[in-house]
Amino acid sequence: MSKIIVLMGAPGAGKGTQARLLQERLGLPQISTGDMLRALRAEDIHSTQTSGKLISDEVVIRLVRERTEQDDCKHGYVLDGFPRTTAQAEMLEKLAAAQSNELIAILVDVPTEILEKRLTGRRNCPVCKEIYNAYFKPPRVDNVCDHHPNAQLERRSDDAPEKVHVRLQTYENQTRPVLDYYRDSGRLRTIDGTREREAIYKDIAAILNS
Ligand code: AP5
Ligand code: MG
Repeated sequence: MSKIIVLMGAPGAGKGTQARLLQERLGLPQISTGDMLRALRAEDIHSTQTSGKLISDEVVIRLVRERTEQDDCKHGYVLDGFPRTTAQAEMLEKLAAAQSNELIAILVDVPTEILEKRLTGRRNCPVCKEIYNAYFKPPRVDNVCDHHPNAQLERRSDDAPEKVHVRLQTYENQTRPVLDYYRDSGRLRTIDGTREREAIYKDIAAILNS
């Protein structure tokens, strides 16, 4: 049976960082609803994302359904940033059943005071999407991607301090109940997300092998 790995965690917890490692090393496709929504380049979606509030369940559910029907998802995949509401979690149950996939949720747990620094310090390469951090993972040359010397790193519009506050509130109000949902059904594993990214990856890989 293939696995759906649901990476849970607050904004800045390191979901994207870990999903990229799982993709590189285990070949599991990273399905990031945040990245997919940003790639749509739709004005209304962009302004909602920048505000720190959520996009409608209908839009996001459709994106996930269509993406996971593609061939590369046949042997499992990693969800990064989905589900974020209980309605999305319910939809995912149906999808997992239809795809005969087992679902495992992994919470990358990081306290709020660390999250703020991770988000305000984050920079992304516009070409390969590599994730950097001004404090914790700086590029070799200031503000330039290690892999793309012509690419200036970008900052996400929702990483401004006042937006970070709204995102953390949205997470508490709308996504925390999803954690309870997985915990109550015995499918939530929690790992300490304050350590080095390799230590976190090791824990995730061990969960997948168990
Ligand atoms: P999304 O793009 O999913 O953002 P998010 O959940 O707020 O999470 P982030 O991407 O900010 O953080 P991350 O956990 O991926 O951390 P990262 O690895 O980058 O969503 C954005 C918006 O899209 C939402 O607000 C909403 O509007 C919309 N949206 C998305 N999904 C939706 C859905 N399902 N329903 C409705 N709307 C949706 O790491 C962060 C930083 O920390 C980086 O700089 C990194 O280098 C650093 N870092 C990572 N790990 C470590 C470590 N171990 N030690 C030190 N630094 C680290
Ligand atoms: Mg992310």
